[in-house]
Amino acid sequence: MVAMQIAIDGPASAGKSTIAKILANQLGYIYVDTGAMYRVVTLAALRAQIDINDEDAVTQLLPTIQITFAPGEPVQRVYYNEQDVTEEIRSATVTKNVSAVSSYAAVREAMTNLQRLIAQDAGVVMDGRDIGTTVLPQAQVKIFLVASVHERALRRFKENQAKGSNETLAEIEQAVQHRDELDSNRAISPLRKADDAIKVDTTGMSIDAVVQKIKGIITNIA
Ligand code: C5P
Repeated sequence: MVAMQIAIDGPASAGKSTIAKILANQLGYIYVDTGAMYRVVTLAALRAQIDINDEDAVTQLLPTIQITFAPGEPVQRVYYNEQDVTEEIRSATVTKNVSAVSSYAAVREAMTNLQRLIAQDAGVVMDGRDIGTTVLPQAQVKIFLVASVHERALRRFKENQAKGSNETLAEIEQAVQHRDELDSNRAISPLRKADDAIKVDTTGMSIDAVVQKIKGIITNIA
């Protein structure tokens, strides 16, 4: 099978990164978590104590930010200027501010360029919000992964509890919904299903069942 580009987009906590990582491992492809990149930029702005609503200030920070990935279990490691920030970029503060930062034109341009560069010469599974529509519009496989807001919040709630967080299910449900609204309504590359993407609703499905379903889709296309 010729190496392909596989784009997996969808709303917050739909299971994109879990599924994308398993698929990439099984196919021997590179896995690119584009949400992690926007999270690193957000972390950099927060650390620099920049006003998140100050687009110019966030933009000026971009040339100082280097983002890299390394393999890791159970999650891929993410580095900001060679410092491992894998856990820190998942903090509630970063999550709360990331949609504002990712709405800025210069931020999107820089991240899109980096994502295309990584995808240039290998098979890739890339997950995000605008991969099928903007980053890799020529991707051979495009999946739009969705699940009910309640189920997505519940999955995140269970993960958070395991980490000792005391955010309530209702708070998480509200935050997930708010982030989807911001990501869907921004001017540049909003969260949207590409016309040629296949929608997969994972509500009530196990991880394994979702992987098998997407592998079936890939086999039909390849
Ligand atoms: O996927 P994750 O929840 O980690 O993404 C964090 C945020 O990064 C999203 O809520 C969105 O604002 C932004 N994002 C984006 N475009 C992508 C991936 C993520 O704007 N391709």
